[in-house]
Amino acid sequence: MENFNYYAPTKVVFGKNTEFQTGELVRECGCRKVLVHYGSGSVKKSGLLDRIFAALDKAGIEYVALGGVVPNPRLSLVYEGITLCNRESVDFILAVGGGSVIDSAKAIGYGVANEGDVWDFYARKRTAQGCLPLGVVLTIAAAGSEMSDSSVITNEEGWIKRGYSSNYVRPKFAVMNPDLTMTLPAYQTESGCVDIMMHTMERYLNQADNMELTDGISEALLRTVMKNAKILLDDPQNYEARAEVMWAGSLSHNGLTGCGTDGGDWASHQLEHELGGMYDVAHGAGLAAVWGSWARYVMDARPGRFARFAVQVLGVEDTGDAIKTAKKGIAAMEEFYRSIRMPVNLRGLGIEPSEEEIKELARKCSFDGTRTIGCVKKLDQEDIFRIYMHAR
Ligand code: NZQ
Ligand code: ZN
Repeated sequence: MENFNYYAPTKVVFGKNTEFQTGELVRECGCRKVLVHYGSGSVKKSGLLDRIFAALDKAGIEYVALGGVVPNPRLSLVYEGITLCNRESVDFILAVGGGSVIDSAKAIGYGVANEGDVWDFYARKRTAQGCLPLGVVLTIAAAGSEMSDSSVITNEEGWIKRGYSSNYVRPKFAVMNPDLTMTLPAYQTESGCVDIMMHTMERYLNQADNMELTDGISEALLRTVMKNAKILLDDPQNYEARAEVMWAGSLSHNGLTGCGTDGGDWASHQLEHELGGMYDVAHGAGLAAVWGSWARYVMDARPGRFARFAVQVLGVEDTGDAIKTAKKGIAAMEEFYRSIRMPVNLRGLGIEPSEEEIKELARKCSFDGTRTIGCVKKLDQEDIFRIYMHAR
């Protein structure tokens, strides 16, 4: 087992009607004025936003609101949020929504707590020294941002999507009521399930060994999400299935499934981020579209690990030949993606990039050829190009 730090300071308030506690939770944080940040309308339509305002009023908390966050959240709205927070002396941000809203809130928090251009952190020009405290009312099980240390923002200048991580942005609390996810379109529910799985698969498919407990947790988590993703296809109002998936989403990305590993691979995420930046696709669906191509490209570097994944997670029979079993596992995973109506290639994702565009994706993903991605196999610009080409 590798050495590790496990830091998960977020207070989780899970279950039915928990959103009514939001005012009290903010008050416990000792803050005076809140920015309520939300997306493009789902929380207004469902009445959740009004319930949150009422909970804040009841607790005597002042607030201002800023909506309009879109999936693949934009830097321009982050700048708007920073200006608003400074003008209104906001000292706490409440994100009501999904990963995009939470990530936008985290970026605003960085921008208020640090001098200079907030994009510098995402462009890796300097590191943040703090962030405004944040809380979350989660409406979609997917990104895991409600407990994670990361935030992913798209800069409209060049359409570059970049992540930045630090413990400063771990939310103080996360309110998670599975009922709030019942209004999700099926595509978002299933895309979220893929993202949840991928946060564990990125950590599981690695170069490390000897982490029996972490492997066991990861395998159980993956099997649970797969089972419930299928249930939700036919029965989207199933509370128990919503609850399993929601809790899995947080545990998948709060560091638990990385304990004792080498940190994981993350190449699929890097490949998807370029797709999100250039084509504005749903993150989980984008991951499903590139995963098979990535897995086939790198599998021979860790056949035993991929074979274990095939047997323990996908129920593939052990053939005794690791490569053969691993290949069957990759095919079984793609079959699962199809069964929940997720894409297994770029065409299925609804995009058909030309070879020139794929070169551009590979250039951006490799930071102009200056970095490699992944750990199962270190992938340079040429490898990245090939993986995107195979994914077409
Ligand atoms: O904006 P609204 O109207 O709320 O609509 C959203 C959006 O269109 C809708 N939605 C959310 N909750 C809903 C709902 N519609 C009906 N009922 C509800 N209860 O769903 C759509 C997707 O929302 P979004 O917040 O974009 O989803 P998700 O949570 O998947 O977040 C995706 C973003 O998170 C980033 C992704 O790259 C992407 O930008 N990630 C963030 C991570 C992190 N911070 O730790 C890690 C991830 O790997 C990921 O990269
Ligand atoms: Zn993700």
